[in-house]
Amino acid sequence: MKKTIVITGGAGFIGSHVVREFVNKYPDYHIINLDALTYAGNLENLKDVKDAPNYTFIKADITHAAHMLDIFREYQPDGVIHLAAESHVDRSITSPTDFVMTNVVGTVNLLNAARETWQGQLEGKRFHHVSTDEVYGTLGATGLFTEDTPYDPHSPYSASKASSDHFIRAYHDTYGLPVVITNCSNNYGPNHFPEKLIPLCILNILHGKPLPIYGDGKYTRDWLYVVDHARAIDLVFHEGENGESYNIGGFNEWQNIDLVRELCRQMDEKLGQAPGTAAQLITYVKDRPGHDLRYAIDATKINTELGYEPSVTFEEGLSHTIDWFLENREWLERVNSGAYQDYYHEQYKDK
Ligand code: NAD
Ligand code: DAU
Repeated sequence: MKKTIVITGGAGFIGSHVVREFVNKYPDYHIINLDALTYAGNLENLKDVKDAPNYTFIKADITHAAHMLDIFREYQPDGVIHLAAESHVDRSITSPTDFVMTNVVGTVNLLNAARETWQGQLEGKRFHHVSTDEVYGTLGATGLFTEDTPYDPHSPYSASKASSDHFIRAYHDTYGLPVVITNCSNNYGPNHFPEKLIPLCILNILHGKPLPIYGDGKYTRDWLYVVDHARAIDLVFHEGENGESYNIGGFNEWQNIDLVRELCRQMDEKLGQAPGTAAQLITYVKDRPGHDLRYAIDATKINTELGYEPSVTFEEGLSHTIDWFLENREWLERVNSGAYQDYYHEQYKDK
């Protein structure tokens, strides 16, 4: 094998798309999916690649420093693509310490394992940290986040991701570790866990349940199709400059209420319901504390320096996403019921 790459959080939403992209595109790479399988980890996302000869799954928790070092010593990875994280803002408000443990301590454990394993042999090595636009805080009605926007996180989630980004840069500046950071906007697409806005609304429309809109619904997010995020990670992992960070986005801003209305429109059409049926479920609820008003990415750097462009329009991506959820209702119902968590035990009894 030409390279061994550890992808952390590969059983999650974005991680599973990154694993698939790498396993299929690089048959001469050994791809190791390192994931603790928390509530957000679902190996059913990777059924199609689980038997590929260049794929290995390791169940491991990044908060366990000694275990990380053992894995790195055994597999001697050339690269790390680090996605494992607690990722849901609302959960960070109720359980902030879990976010510090995984997102900060877990990241430092991986940095230490890489540093220890790569001592004196940094040529061809790369630690790619996958981060978020939420580290920049919030925008007013105008402006975009660039790579130079000062960090100003507001939620425990974004504070923990900002902290992890600082550790990544500190290990580059202090120890010369070859790192890159990507800060991406909101992703959507197949396998999205139905605690997040879009899949939650799809699930609730199918169940005839209320679609909860926080506050006045005028909060704005910048949405990117998950496969396009995976493509950008591939590009930056291979061609980004050490020590640099790259914003990833699709110049695609939507106010939450407009997005949910568009989702309702498409769901009515695809389900053969009268127009307006799904939108009747829209329900305004109590706002999220510390809710950031607006995120919007300036993706000029990755576009001009690395030639990156999203491959699908939002219209295509949203339509494909809804089709995927309708064709994979079993996936959605198994996640909703918790049955997906049995899959690991069925498939990996002996591990
Ligand atoms: P997710 O919650 O769907 O998946 C997280 C994965 O990490 C799961 O498979 C989970 O089992 C694993 N994990 C959690 N704690 C772990 C631990 N202690 N040890 C090992 N594995 C652990 O998250 P996601 O939405 O796919 O996000 C992936 C990454 O991308 C995160 O770092 C997130 O901050 C970042 N990101 C997400 C978005 C988005 O819109 N979802 C946007 C930008 C950046
Ligand atoms: O911007 C990137 C971030 O996007 C990632 O770093 C996070 O991991 C990811 O979860 C996402 O964070 P958000 O908080 O923006 O995503 P979420 O889907 O939770 O919410 C999107 C918007 O919708 C936000 O303004 C809150 C609102 N919302 C969310 C939920 C779950 C609602 O109005 N109702 C809801 O029920």
